[in-house]
Amino acid sequence: MSTHTLGIRKFDYVEFYVGSAKMVAYWFAKALGLKLTAYCGPETGCKDRVSYVLTLNNLKFVITSAPCPQTSSIWNSVWQHGDGVKRFSLEVDSVEHVFNYAIKHGAVPLKKPYELKDRDGIVQEAQIKIYDDAEMNLVHYDGYHGTFKPPYQSPFLNIEVNCQESLLLEIDHVVGNVRENEMNYWENYLNHAFDFETSLYFGPGDISTQYSALVSKVVRSKDKKIRLPINEPYFGLKMSQIEEYIREYSGTGIQHIAISTPDIVKTIRALRNNGMEFLSVPDTYYETLRTKNIQIEENLDDLQKLKILCDIEGKGYLLQIFTKPIGDRPTFFFEIIQRQQGAEGFGHGNFQALFESIERDQKLRGNW
Ligand code: FE2
Repeated sequence: MSTHTLGIRKFDYVEFYVGSAKMVAYWFAKALGLKLTAYCGPETGCKDRVSYVLTLNNLKFVITSAPCPQTSSIWNSVWQHGDGVKRFSLEVDSVEHVFNYAIKHGAVPLKKPYELKDRDGIVQEAQIKIYDDAEMNLVHYDGYHGTFKPPYQSPFLNIEVNCQESLLLEIDHVVGNVRENEMNYWENYLNHAFDFETSLYFGPGDISTQYSALVSKVVRSKDKKIRLPINEPYFGLKMSQIEEYIREYSGTGIQHIAISTPDIVKTIRALRNNGMEFLSVPDTYYETLRTKNIQIEENLDDLQKLKILCDIEGKGYLLQIFTKPIGDRPTFFFEIIQRQQGAEGFGHGNFQALFESIERDQKLRGNW
Protein backbone atom coordinates (compact mmCIF):
# COMPACT_ATOMS: atom_id res chain seq x y z
CA MET A 1 0.00 0.00 0.00
CA SER A 2 1.05 3.53 -0.66
CA THR A 3 1.99 6.19 1.89
CA HIS A 4 0.58 8.90 -0.41
CA THR A 5 -2.78 10.46 0.50
CA LEU A 6 -4.39 9.34 -2.78
CA GLY A 7 -2.61 6.01 -2.97
CA ILE A 8 0.09 6.84 -5.54
CA ARG A 9 2.84 4.29 -4.95
CA LYS A 10 5.78 5.00 -7.24
CA PHE A 11 7.00 5.68 -10.76
CA ASP A 12 6.32 2.72 -12.98
CA TYR A 13 7.02 2.39 -16.70
CA VAL A 14 8.01 5.12 -19.15
CA GLU A 15 6.91 4.66 -22.77
CA PHE A 16 8.82 6.15 -25.68
CA TYR A 17 7.32 6.55 -29.16
CA VAL A 18 10.10 6.13 -31.70
CA GLY A 19 10.70 5.62 -35.42
CA SER A 20 11.95 2.04 -35.15
CA ALA A 21 11.32 0.28 -31.84
CA LYS A 22 13.58 -2.68 -32.58
CA MET A 23 16.63 -0.49 -33.13
CA VAL A 24 15.97 1.79 -30.18
CA ALA A 25 15.33 -1.25 -27.95
CA TYR A 26 18.72 -2.57 -29.01
CA TRP A 27 20.31 0.75 -28.00
CA PHE A 28 18.58 0.67 -24.57
CA ALA A 29 19.86 -2.89 -24.05
CA LYS A 30 23.38 -2.07 -25.18
CA ALA A 31 23.95 1.41 -23.73
CA LEU A 32 21.99 1.15 -20.47
CA GLY A 33 22.37 -2.59 -19.87
CA LEU A 34 18.60 -3.28 -19.78
CA LYS A 35 17.07 -6.69 -20.49
CA LEU A 36 14.26 -7.38 -22.92
CA THR A 37 11.42 -8.88 -20.86
CA ALA A 38 8.21 -8.45 -22.85
CA TYR A 39 7.00 -7.78 -26.37
CA CYS A 40 3.85 -7.11 -28.32
CA GLY A 41 3.48 -6.80 -32.08
CA PRO A 42 1.79 -8.32 -35.13
CA GLU A 43 3.10 -11.80 -34.21
CA THR A 44 1.26 -11.65 -30.88
CA GLY A 45 -1.96 -10.31 -32.36
CA CYS A 46 -1.17 -6.64 -31.77
CA LYS A 47 -1.68 -5.03 -35.18
CA ASP A 48 -1.21 -1.33 -34.47
CA ARG A 49 2.17 -1.34 -32.75
CA VAL A 50 5.50 -3.00 -32.17
CA SER A 51 6.53 -2.60 -28.56
CA TYR A 52 9.51 -3.84 -26.55
CA VAL A 53 9.71 -3.75 -22.73
CA LEU A 54 13.19 -3.46 -21.23
CA THR A 55 13.83 -3.68 -17.51
CA LEU A 56 16.55 -3.54 -14.89
CA ASN A 57 15.91 -3.52 -11.12
CA ASN A 58 12.88 -1.18 -10.75
CA LEU A 59 13.37 0.45 -14.17
CA LYS A 60 10.86 -0.34 -16.88
CA PHE A 61 11.06 1.27 -20.33
CA VAL A 62 8.59 0.55 -23.12
CA ILE A 63 9.81 1.30 -26.65
CA THR A 64 6.98 1.54 -29.18
CA SER A 65 6.75 2.25 -32.90
CA ALA A 66 4.11 1.94 -35.62
CA PRO A 67 4.25 -0.85 -38.19
CA CYS A 68 1.56 0.85 -40.31
CA PRO A 69 2.64 4.48 -40.40
CA GLN A 70 -0.19 5.92 -42.50
CA THR A 71 -2.92 5.45 -39.94
CA SER A 72 -1.15 5.49 -36.65
CA SER A 73 -1.25 8.06 -33.86
CA ILE A 74 2.19 6.70 -32.90
CA TRP A 75 3.56 7.68 -36.27
CA ASN A 76 1.91 11.13 -36.01
CA SER A 77 3.63 11.65 -32.67
CA VAL A 78 7.04 10.64 -34.05
CA TRP A 79 6.52 12.77 -37.16
CA GLN A 80 5.82 15.82 -35.01
CA HIS A 81 8.10 15.34 -32.03
CA GLY A 82 10.76 12.88 -33.12
CA ASP A 83 11.62 10.05 -30.73
CA GLY A 84 10.47 10.99 -27.24
CA VAL A 85 8.55 10.14 -24.09
CA LYS A 86 4.84 9.71 -24.81
CA ARG A 87 3.81 8.75 -21.28
CA PHE A 88 5.13 8.02 -17.83
CA SER A 89 3.27 5.78 -15.50
CA LEU A 90 2.43 5.94 -11.81
CA GLU A 91 1.54 2.75 -9.98
CA VAL A 92 -1.46 3.39 -7.72
CA ASP A 93 -3.58 1.53 -5.15
CA SER A 94 -6.75 2.30 -7.15
CA VAL A 95 -6.82 3.72 -10.69
CA GLU A 96 -10.45 4.76 -10.34
CA HIS A 97 -9.87 6.63 -7.08
CA VAL A 98 -6.82 8.61 -8.26
CA PHE A 99 -8.41 9.31 -11.66
CA ASN A 100 -11.70 10.55 -10.18
CA TYR A 101 -9.92 12.74 -7.63
CA ALA A 102 -7.60 14.20 -10.29
CA ILE A 103 -10.44 15.01 -12.70
CA LYS A 104 -12.50 16.56 -9.91
CA HIS A 105 -9.49 18.75 -9.10
CA GLY A 106 -8.85 20.07 -12.59
CA ALA A 107 -6.89 17.37 -14.44
CA VAL A 108 -7.73 16.80 -18.12
CA PRO A 109 -8.88 13.21 -18.80
CA LEU A 110 -7.52 11.45 -21.88
CA LYS A 111 -8.80 7.93 -21.24
CA LYS A 112 -11.16 6.91 -18.46
CA PRO A 113 -10.28 3.86 -16.31
CA TYR A 114 -10.35 0.63 -18.34
CA GLU A 115 -9.29 -2.98 -17.87
CA LEU A 116 -6.86 -5.12 -19.82
CA LYS A 117 -7.47 -8.85 -19.41
CA ASP A 118 -5.89 -12.12 -20.41
CA ARG A 119 -5.52 -15.55 -18.80
CA ASP A 120 -2.92 -14.13 -16.35
CA GLY A 121 -5.34 -11.67 -14.81
CA ILE A 122 -6.47 -8.04 -15.00
CA VAL A 123 -4.62 -4.71 -15.17
CA GLN A 124 -6.39 -1.37 -14.66
CA GLU A 125 -5.17 1.79 -16.41
CA ALA A 126 -6.27 5.36 -17.16
CA GLN A 127 -4.57 8.36 -18.77
CA ILE A 128 -4.40 12.03 -17.83
CA LYS A 129 -2.95 14.88 -19.88
CA ILE A 130 0.34 16.53 -19.02
CA TYR A 131 2.15 19.17 -21.09
CA ASP A 132 1.23 19.42 -24.82
CA ASP A 133 0.94 15.79 -25.94
CA ALA A 134 2.34 13.73 -23.05
CA GLU A 135 0.36 11.52 -20.72
CA MET A 136 0.44 10.45 -17.11
CA ASN A 137 -0.65 6.85 -16.99
CA LEU A 138 -2.21 5.39 -13.85
CA VAL A 139 -1.74 1.64 -13.48
CA HIS A 140 -2.69 -1.10 -11.00
CA TYR A 141 -1.17 -4.55 -11.48
CA ASP A 142 -2.09 -6.33 -8.25
CA GLY A 143 -4.49 -8.67 -10.05
CA TYR A 144 -2.01 -9.63 -12.77
CA HIS A 145 0.60 -12.38 -12.79
CA GLY A 146 1.81 -12.35 -16.39
CA THR A 147 4.58 -10.49 -18.20
CA PHE A 148 4.03 -6.73 -17.91
CA LYS A 149 0.37 -6.37 -19.01
CA PRO A 150 -2.01 -7.65 -21.72
CA PRO A 151 -1.38 -8.02 -24.68
CA TYR A 152 2.36 -8.21 -23.97
CA GLN A 153 4.02 -11.62 -23.92
CA SER A 154 7.45 -13.01 -23.17
CA PRO A 155 9.73 -11.95 -26.03
CA PHE A 156 10.11 -14.58 -28.73
CA LEU A 157 13.41 -13.06 -29.78
CA ASN A 158 16.44 -12.22 -27.73
CA ILE A 159 18.37 -8.99 -27.93
CA GLU A 160 21.85 -10.34 -27.28
CA VAL A 161 24.30 -7.57 -26.58
CA ASN A 162 27.77 -7.50 -25.21
CA CYS A 163 27.71 -4.78 -22.57
CA GLN A 164 28.96 -3.95 -19.11
CA GLU A 165 26.37 -4.26 -16.37
CA SER A 166 25.24 -1.03 -14.77
CA LEU A 167 23.73 -0.50 -11.35
CA LEU A 168 20.81 1.61 -12.50
CA LEU A 169 18.04 1.27 -9.94
CA GLU A 170 14.87 3.31 -10.47
CA ILE A 171 13.42 6.61 -11.67
CA ASP A 172 14.34 9.51 -9.40
CA HIS A 173 12.56 12.33 -11.23
CA VAL A 174 10.83 13.20 -14.52
CA VAL A 175 11.34 16.74 -15.84
CA GLY A 176 9.07 18.74 -18.15
CA ASN A 177 9.93 21.73 -20.35
CA VAL A 178 7.18 24.31 -20.83
CA ARG A 179 6.78 27.72 -22.48
CA GLU A 180 7.14 31.10 -20.82
CA ASN A 181 4.34 31.64 -18.26
CA GLU A 182 3.23 27.98 -18.33
CA MET A 183 5.26 26.74 -15.34
CA ASN A 184 2.85 28.03 -12.71
CA TYR A 185 -0.09 26.53 -14.60
CA TRP A 186 1.44 23.03 -14.54
CA GLU A 187 2.61 23.47 -10.97
CA ASN A 188 -0.95 24.22 -9.84
CA TYR A 189 -2.38 21.51 -12.09
CA LEU A 190 -0.19 18.79 -10.57
CA ASN A 191 -0.49 20.03 -7.00
CA HIS A 192 -4.29 20.21 -7.15
CA ALA A 193 -4.91 17.06 -9.15
CA PHE A 194 -2.58 14.72 -7.26
CA ASP A 195 -2.26 16.40 -3.86
CA PHE A 196 1.40 17.15 -4.60
CA GLU A 197 3.40 20.12 -3.23
CA THR A 198 6.06 22.50 -4.53
CA SER A 199 9.33 21.74 -2.79
CA LEU A 200 11.82 24.01 -4.56
CA TYR A 201 11.87 27.10 -6.75
CA PHE A 202 14.86 28.24 -8.77
CA GLY A 203 14.47 31.85 -9.91
CA PRO A 204 16.09 33.79 -12.76
CA GLY A 205 19.38 34.38 -10.94
CA ASP A 206 19.75 30.75 -9.87
CA ILE A 207 20.15 29.07 -13.25
CA SER A 208 21.75 31.39 -15.76
CA THR A 209 24.88 32.22 -17.69
CA GLN A 210 25.63 35.64 -19.12
CA TYR A 211 23.63 34.62 -22.21
CA SER A 212 20.56 32.64 -21.28
CA ALA A 213 18.48 31.47 -18.36
CA LEU A 214 15.67 29.29 -17.13
CA VAL A 215 13.44 29.13 -14.09
CA SER A 216 12.33 25.90 -12.48
CA LYS A 217 9.94 24.54 -9.86
CA VAL A 218 10.02 21.10 -8.28
CA VAL A 219 6.61 19.53 -7.71
CA ARG A 220 6.59 16.33 -5.69
CA SER A 221 4.38 13.96 -3.77
CA LYS A 222 4.42 14.63 -0.03
CA ASP A 223 6.08 11.24 0.59
CA LYS A 224 8.81 12.37 -1.88
CA LYS A 225 8.47 9.30 -4.09
CA ILE A 226 7.26 11.21 -7.16
CA ARG A 227 9.34 14.23 -8.19
CA LEU A 228 8.30 16.27 -11.23
CA PRO A 229 10.45 19.38 -11.84
CA ILE A 230 9.12 21.87 -14.43
CA ASN A 231 11.43 24.17 -16.43
CA GLU A 232 10.47 27.39 -18.17
CA PRO A 233 12.72 29.61 -20.34
CA TYR A 234 13.67 33.01 -18.99
CA PHE A 235 14.68 36.06 -20.98
CA GLY A 236 18.38 36.10 -22.00
CA LEU A 237 20.64 37.42 -24.75
CA LYS A 238 20.59 34.05 -26.57
CA MET A 239 18.14 31.18 -26.99
CA SER A 240 17.50 29.31 -23.75
CA GLN A 241 18.01 25.53 -23.87
CA ILE A 242 14.31 25.24 -22.96
CA GLU A 243 13.32 27.28 -26.01
CA GLU A 244 15.58 25.11 -28.14
CA TYR A 245 13.85 21.99 -26.81
CA ILE A 246 10.35 23.38 -27.49
CA ARG A 247 11.32 24.39 -31.02
CA GLU A 248 13.01 21.08 -31.88
CA TYR A 249 10.35 18.92 -30.17
CA SER A 250 7.55 21.01 -31.70
CA GLY A 251 5.95 21.54 -28.33
CA THR A 252 6.33 21.08 -24.62
CA GLY A 253 7.14 17.68 -23.13
CA ILE A 254 9.49 15.53 -21.10
CA GLN A 255 13.03 16.91 -21.16
CA HIS A 256 14.88 14.35 -19.07
CA ILE A 257 14.48 11.40 -16.75
CA ALA A 258 16.86 10.94 -13.84
CA ILE A 259 17.74 7.35 -12.91
CA SER A 260 19.17 6.64 -9.47
CA THR A 261 22.06 4.32 -8.73
CA PRO A 262 23.73 3.19 -5.50
CA ASP A 263 27.18 3.36 -7.19
CA ILE A 264 27.52 6.10 -9.78
CA VAL A 265 31.25 5.56 -10.38
CA LYS A 266 30.79 1.91 -11.31
CA THR A 267 27.65 2.70 -13.32
CA ILE A 268 29.15 5.54 -15.37
CA ARG A 269 32.28 3.51 -16.05
CA ALA A 270 30.01 0.78 -17.46
CA LEU A 271 27.81 3.18 -19.44
CA ARG A 272 30.84 4.92 -20.97
CA ASN A 273 32.24 1.52 -21.96
CA ASN A 274 28.86 0.75 -23.53
CA GLY A 275 29.16 3.85 -25.69
CA MET A 276 26.88 6.28 -23.84
CA GLU A 277 27.83 9.92 -24.46
CA PHE A 278 27.78 12.44 -21.61
CA LEU A 279 28.01 16.21 -21.38
CA SER A 280 31.56 17.37 -20.85
CA VAL A 281 32.73 19.25 -17.75
CA PRO A 282 35.88 21.39 -17.75
CA ASP A 283 38.77 20.41 -15.43
CA THR A 284 38.41 23.78 -13.70
CA TYR A 285 35.17 22.44 -12.18
CA TYR A 286 37.18 19.76 -10.32
CA GLU A 287 39.94 22.21 -9.36
CA THR A 288 37.28 24.33 -7.66
CA LEU A 289 35.77 21.24 -6.05
CA ARG A 290 39.15 20.26 -4.55
CA THR A 291 39.55 23.70 -2.92
CA LYS A 292 36.27 23.13 -1.04
CA ASN A 293 37.84 20.25 0.91
CA ILE A 294 34.67 18.23 0.80
CA GLN A 295 34.17 14.97 2.67
CA ILE A 296 32.83 12.35 0.30
CA GLU A 297 33.22 8.57 0.02
CA GLU A 298 34.15 8.67 -3.67
CA ASN A 299 37.58 9.40 -5.09
CA LEU A 300 37.70 12.87 -6.71
CA ASP A 301 40.06 11.58 -9.41
CA ASP A 302 37.40 9.03 -10.40
CA LEU A 303 34.73 11.76 -10.53
CA GLN A 304 36.98 13.97 -12.68
CA LYS A 305 37.91 11.18 -15.04
CA LEU A 306 34.27 10.18 -15.52
CA LYS A 307 33.00 13.82 -15.47
CA ILE A 308 30.59 13.20 -12.61
CA LEU A 309 29.32 16.36 -10.89
CA CYS A 310 29.13 16.70 -7.11
CA ASP A 311 26.92 19.05 -5.10
CA ILE A 312 27.17 19.39 -1.31
CA GLU A 313 23.83 19.88 0.39
CA GLY A 314 23.71 20.24 4.18
CA LYS A 315 24.99 16.98 5.59
CA GLY A 316 24.43 15.07 2.40
CA TYR A 317 25.72 15.33 -1.14
CA LEU A 318 24.55 14.51 -4.58
CA LEU A 319 26.48 13.03 -7.50
CA GLN A 320 25.04 13.42 -10.99
CA ILE A 321 25.85 13.34 -14.67
CA PHE A 322 23.85 14.13 -17.81
CA THR A 323 23.89 12.28 -21.12
CA LYS A 324 23.86 14.08 -24.43
CA PRO A 325 20.44 14.01 -26.16
CA ILE A 326 19.88 10.32 -26.96
CA GLY A 327 18.21 10.87 -30.36
CA ASP A 328 18.80 13.02 -33.43
CA ARG A 329 16.92 16.05 -32.14
CA PRO A 330 18.40 17.97 -29.17
CA THR A 331 15.46 17.05 -26.98
CA PHE A 332 15.34 14.11 -24.54
CA PHE A 333 18.32 13.05 -22.41
CA PHE A 334 18.99 11.00 -19.27
CA GLU A 335 20.50 12.01 -15.94
CA ILE A 336 22.15 9.46 -13.64
CA ILE A 337 22.02 10.44 -9.98
CA GLN A 338 23.28 9.13 -6.64
CA ARG A 339 21.86 10.72 -3.49
CA GLN A 340 24.19 10.34 -0.51
CA GLN A 341 23.29 10.78 3.15
CA GLY A 342 19.75 11.96 2.54
CA ALA A 343 20.45 14.63 -0.10
CA GLU A 344 17.11 15.76 -1.52
CA GLY A 345 18.11 18.46 -4.01
CA PHE A 346 18.71 18.52 -7.74
CA GLY A 347 22.32 19.71 -7.98
CA HIS A 348 21.74 23.44 -7.64
CA GLY A 349 25.49 24.04 -7.26
CA ASN A 350 26.08 22.27 -10.58
CA PHE A 351 23.58 24.20 -12.64
CA GLN A 352 26.15 26.75 -13.81
CA ALA A 353 28.63 24.11 -15.06
CA LEU A 354 25.81 22.10 -16.59
CA PHE A 355 24.24 25.07 -18.32
CA GLU A 356 27.55 26.15 -19.83
CA SER A 357 28.14 22.63 -21.09
CA ILE A 358 24.70 22.52 -22.75
CA GLU A 359 25.34 25.92 -24.33
CA ARG A 360 28.62 24.71 -25.83
CA ASP A 361 26.71 21.92 -27.61
CA GLN A 362 23.86 24.29 -28.53
CA LYS A 363 26.41 26.56 -30.23
CA LEU A 364 27.75 23.59 -32.24
CA ARG A 365 24.19 22.90 -33.44
CA GLY A 366 23.78 26.51 -34.55
CA ASN A 367 20.83 27.13 -32.19
CA TRP A 368 22.46 30.08 -30.55
FE1 FE2 B 1 17.34 16.36 -13.17
